[in-house]
Amino acid sequence: MATTPPDAQERETAPHTSPSLGAKTTPNEAPVAPPTVKLDRANPEFLAGAHAIYSGLRAQGPVVRVSFGSNLTEKARAAGAPEHQAQGASGDEWLFVTRYDEVTEALLDERIASDFRTGMTPAQSERAVAAMPEEFRPIAHSLIMLDPPDHTRLRKLVQPNFTARAMDALKPRIQRLVDELLDKAERAAAERGETAPERRMEFVEAFAYPLPVQVISDLLGIPVEDQPQVHVWAERFLQSDPQQYMTNQAARAGMMDFTRYLEGLFERKRREPTEDMISQMVHAQEDGDRLSSQELLSMVFILFIAGHITTVNLLGNGVVALLKHPEQHARFLADPAGMAKGMVEETLRYWGPVDFLGSPRIVKEDLELGGVHIPKGSKLSVGLASANWDPQRFENPDAYDISRPDAHRNIAFGKGIHVCIGAPLARLEAQIAFETLFRRFPKLRLAESADSLRLGVGAAMRGFKHIPVLF
Ligand code: HEM
Repeated sequence: MATTPPDAQERETAPHTSPSLGAKTTPNEAPVAPPTVKLDRANPEFLAGAHAIYSGLRAQGPVVRVSFGSNLTEKARAAGAPEHQAQGASGDEWLFVTRYDEVTEALLDERIASDFRTGMTPAQSERAVAAMPEEFRPIAHSLIMLDPPDHTRLRKLVQPNFTARAMDALKPRIQRLVDELLDKAERAAAERGETAPERRMEFVEAFAYPLPVQVISDLLGIPVEDQPQVHVWAERFLQSDPQQYMTNQAARAGMMDFTRYLEGLFERKRREPTEDMISQMVHAQEDGDRLSSQELLSMVFILFIAGHITTVNLLGNGVVALLKHPEQHARFLADPAGMAKGMVEETLRYWGPVDFLGSPRIVKEDLELGGVHIPKGSKLSVGLASANWDPQRFENPDAYDISRPDAHRNIAFGKGIHVCIGAPLARLEAQIAFETLFRRFPKLRLAESADSLRLGVGAAMRGFKHIPVLF
């Protein structure tokens, strides 16, 4: 993991001043725009070195131009209304918010829309959606890409499932799942004839992946017997490289099968409701017209997909970060119950699962951000990881410190009306997981050096693909 280069750190501790978009001026010289930095999600090396890049971008200014390579929503926007192509940045260039204060400000600003169809006529909007692959449309119509009033109405429907009280009720179920997965790993090792502390486990496959997937499947009401098939579809989608998604027939077919499966499940829940979120939503739909069929599908899709790989990565990132820092590891082992919360918050800050928002936000009117003029129509992303390592906000940001007093101020879950609805659930799962894992297996350690572990590729999701451990 690259840390901030010393020269950038020096620049960063100086007060931030940057009046114009990415332009550097010296006396007698016209402004020179620095070269656009590519945040290359498709490059397997990108995430490992990303913090050094973010540090350079923060030093450039609070809002800079970057290029990401295009993605599906952006292509759809171009197909719907080419004349709406971004202002303030051209082609596949976006504006990128680099620092904590401005990232927070941008996420709270009502003039910045999440709907990629913003500013389009109904006909353009239709064209844009039609340009998307059919199986991707449920995500395009989901909470994450809607603005008020639709966003407000839909979010209200599911919010009660993620309150503190709802989380308390879930605790025993999550604890049981954690215990079962660890029991299973012990049994598998015993069957291979391994004994403690030399037993092997592939942490992602045996634990980090199945835990959140099972929790969200249960919450939604996906019957246990269907879960293995659903996981195959979701995995094909999530493992597919976003740049190659359109040519990945297996991923695309899997998404279509998942959609058809869900439509069938809604019918079943309509006839025989059970105690779960899908039944609740189907009921809400029949109660009035609060939720269209498209919206129901989109909601289930986004709840299932958004909580998937993110929480998997939080669990993996926490284990690797802790094991990579022996003094923090020792501190945690001395009091797993007392330190679990701190470890979760610091992991979210240090190696949060989402580096930056992957689909463009659209600026609805001219505005100022951190003293920088942002023109109407700009495509904008915010750097969550960059903000979480902003030295103006967090002291020694590149140090992993599970007792950091302000780690909970991280913005790994975003901010404002779109702040992650599943954050309380992800936090709870991770706290129970870390506490139980290190309490039961205090000798748990990496089977390979931390530096040899590979981060996954694509969609700005930070997480290790495989984490072989010994316990
Ligand atoms: C560590 C785990 C997680 C991380 C880091 C994470 C991160 C995020 C972020 C950054 C956003 C804001 C996106 C934006 O502003 O456009 C978001 C939104 C969302 N997340 Fe999560 N998430 C996690 C877990 C979950 C879980 C477990 C669920 C489902 C149960 C979930 C469901 C959602 C949904 C539905 C939204 C959209 C909310 C809205 O637009 O109003 N997430 N998440």
